[in-house]
Amino acid sequence: MTRHRLATLDDVPETGSKAFDVDGRSVLVCRSSAGVFAIENMCSHAYALLEGGKVKGPYIFCPLHGIRFNMRDGTPNGTLTKKPIAVYETELIGDEIYADIPND
Ligand code: FES
Repeated sequence: MTRHRLATLDDVPETGSKAFDVDGRSVLVCRSSAGVFAIENMCSHAYALLEGGKVKGPYIFCPLHGIRFNMRDGTPNGTLTKKPIAVYETELIGDEIYADIPND
């Protein structure tokens, strides 16, 4: 596990998401009224990119089929998949966004 500085708040829409490459892994940073989250940028259903999906509170909605994932623990809602997405421990220091990303 390595802590990475991903972005500043200005790099990510106030309610939305932006993907960043971390050693070949696509990490999606999301901002909403619930805070700042760093999550895997891939849906566990049919592997669509989550970037651009609607973000509301602690949830992101997959742009392809609309599954809602909880960005706090990665759990999906509904019946299309039971498989969670990866979520990363995220910390905001000043206006800089950090996350702990696995090394594998
Ligand atoms: S690919 Fe995300 S809900 Fe189907």
